[in-house]
Amino acid sequence: MNAIDCIMTRRSVRGYTDRPLDEDTIKTLLQAAISAPSGRNGQPWKFKVVTDKELINKISDLSRHGAWMRTAACLVAVYLDKSRSYDRIKDAQSCGAAIQNMMLAAHSLGIGSCWIGEILPKDDEIKAVLNIENSDLELMAVVTFGYGAGQPSSYIRNSLESFLL
Ligand SMILES: Cc1cc2nc3c(=O)[nH]c(=O)nc-3n(C[C@H](O)[C@H](O)[C@H](O)COP(=O)(O)O)c2cc1C
Repeated sequence: MNAIDCIMTRRSVRGYTDRPLDEDTIKTLLQAAISAPSGRNGQPWKFKVVTDKELINKISDLSRHGAWMRTAACLVAVYLDKSRSYDRIKDAQSCGAAIQNMMLAAHSLGIGSCWIGEILPKDDEIKAVLNIENSDLELMAVVTFGYGAGQPSSYIRNSLESFLL
C-alpha cells in the first residue's frame, strides 16, 4: 500500500478479533511512532505497551468505550515526558504525530486501531494500573490495536472547500 492510499483509507476500527499481535509487529508500530517528527527533535514521548488481557480489561473499564476496547489485542498508552519538554503545544503535537504514525503503520499491515482521547482524565488511574510512578509523564492518548472485526467507521468529512481560507 502506498502512503497516499494508506492515509486515505485508514479509518478508526472499534472492535477486534482474538488474533494477537506478534512482538515484531508491535515493535514495527513503535519504530513508526519514534520516526515521527518532533520539535527540536526533542522526541518527548514515552510508550507503554499493554498486551496482558487482565490489564487491557482494567484500562478499558476506565473508559466509556470499555466494551469494545476490551477486544483489543494491544493498547499503547502514549505519554508526553515533561522532563524532555521545551514547549507544551509543540511537544503535544509531536506526540500526536507519533500516534498517527503508529496508526498508519498498523493500517498498512492490515491492523485496525483507534485513538482514545476520552480516557485522558483517567491518567492517574491508568498509571496505577500500569505501575507507572513517574509524575513527569502526562497521558496524551491510549491507542487500541487489533485485527478488525466487522466494519470500520465510515468516512465522514466536510468538503475540502469548507476548510480552505
Ligand atoms: C485527539 C483524538 C481523540 C479521539 N478520541 C476518541 C475517543 O475517545 N473515542 C473514540 O472512539 N474515538 C476517538 N477518536 C477517533 C475519532 O473519533 C475519529 O478519528 C473520527 O471520528 C474520524 O473517524 P476516522 O478515524 O475513522 O477517520 C479520537 C481521535 C483523535 C484525533
